[in-house]
Amino acid sequence: MSNLILTTEKQGVFTISLNRLDKKNALTNDMYKQLCQHFSYSEKTTSIHCVVIQGNESCFCAGNDLNDFIQCSDNDELAALEFVKVLSEFTKPLVAGVAGAVVGIGTTLLLHCDMVIAANNSKFKLPFTQLGLCPEAGSSLLLTQKIGPNKAFELMVLGNIFNAEQALNYGITNQTCQPNELLALTADVAQAIANLPVESVMTSRRLIRQANKVALSQVISDESQAFSHLVNSQECKDILAKFLNKVR
Ligand code: COA
Repeated sequence: MSNLILTTEKQGVFTISLNRLDKKNALTNDMYKQLCQHFSYSEKTTSIHCVVIQGNESCFCAGNDLNDFIQCSDNDELAALEFVKVLSEFTKPLVAGVAGAVVGIGTTLLLHCDMVIAANNSKFKLPFTQLGLCPEAGSSLLLTQKIGPNKAFELMVLGNIFNAEQALNYGITNQTCQPNELLALTADVAQAIANLPVESVMTSRRLIRQANKVALSQVISDESQAFSHLVNSQECKDILAKFLNKVR
């Protein structure tokens, strides 16, 4: 396995660190596959009581690798969609520590986390429609539940950037911190969860999330179908080609 994703396992906490910083931790198909394996491993390993997902103090994740979107064809199963399924069905406590770019799936995956710590240099963005795409990872349900349809439209259709303080007010994150405090604070939160009675924590998590279970699975399926259609449209491919020429 490449080292674009690093993991550690210590005292009941399994930590997944995105490690493609030169590309702002944009997630490739291969990285999604690795993430799926790590989540499956965490799910079935009884000594793991809490999982952390993080980047570093300057960057969390710039979303899906746009090159992969361009290259995918009608017949391709997007690894991102499998990751979303695994993430949405995960049953153990999930903690995220974010900073810098928190874009696309970098933001929507947070909606499946139980605790999110954001450094105050974080910049959140959901540029779906600017790319000719639509919301994913259940965000059309989960974000709308948090902030209502009008604000959800503003963030997911206009794609306005928002900062750590706004993310806290929207209920996407639990707390903010200085960038240099991020990794230690995230580790502390995860350790505190891991030290609690395991069955009690997992039962509580299930109860907190169960009202959404059926609706979420339907929404993810609808989003995935729409997303797969849009990502193969000529309009989307033209936008991505233009964007990549600009950022390259
Ligand atoms: N896919 C592929 N490559 C990406 C990427 C992505 N989503 N995001 C960043 N990169 C690459 C850039 O192409 C650049 O590569 P290079 O050094 O080979 O030129 C490198 O990462 C650094 O990015 P850069 O744009 O120079 O950094 P920045 O700090 O100025 O801006 C972002 C950071 C995240 C705001 C900007 O890169 C961006 O908007 N990325 C695209 C985000 C996106 O639309 N994601 C998809 C959501 S569905």
